[in-house]
Amino acid sequence: MPIEVRAADLGDLALLVALNQPAQSLHAALCPEDFKAEPDPEEIRAFFRAQLGEPGSLMAIAWIDAVAAGYVWLDVAVQLETAFLRERSYLVVQQLGVAPGLRRRGVGRALIGYAEQVARDRGLGGIDLGTWAANAEARAFFAAVGFVTASLVLRRPVGGG
Ligand SMILES: CC(C)(COP(=O)(O)OP(=O)(O)OC[C@H]1O[C@@H](n2cnc3c(N)ncnc32)[C@H](O)[C@@H]1OP(=O)(O)O)[C@@H](O)C(=O)NCCC(=O)NCCS
Repeated sequence: MPIEVRAADLGDLALLVALNQPAQSLHAALCPEDFKAEPDPEEIRAFFRAQLGEPGSLMAIAWIDAVAAGYVWLDVAVQLETAFLRERSYLVVQQLGVAPGLRRRGVGRALIGYAEQVARDRGLGGIDLGTWAANAEARAFFAAVGFVTASLVLRRPVGGG
């Protein structure tokens, strides 16, 4: 089953909103403190529209024949040199999701392959992403496609806050 990943444009906004929805619902279920359970689709559409106009931002859709099976939103990031840190330019996977009925068919892997090609084409040395600790399936996926843990974000509730 061939999977083709193509850059998205403004004509794909409705598809991007639809592909984001299951990932958003999953995150709202796993991390209700952070994610909205019922976000406004119009707000998401406006957000994606703005991202598509950002020079360092790129969205792509994975197609199986004429079916939009998954999407990825990528950003170029630059960490400037400081007294402590080296300068580093890298690609960030901001969001990635595959339609629930089309998972475990290599769509996610194809989207990461696309990201890798974008990083190479732009002369970037690596790809960073954040994933939620509670999202065990995503963590297994990212490990399977070559990501390792580079940093951890820790959180502690504060009584009365
Ligand atoms: C995570 C996600 C993108 C994976 O997409 P996918 O198209 O199913 O992944 P692939 O078919 O390319 O899987 C590649 C490999 O990753 C691993 N993998 C994928 N999903 C997995 C799961 N649920 N559990 C364990 N391993 C998994 C497997 O090793 C798999 O290879 P295999 O199927 O030959 O065993 C998809 O499950 C998804 O959209 N989840 C909800 C949104 C989400 O969590 N996004 C990431 C947020 S940061």
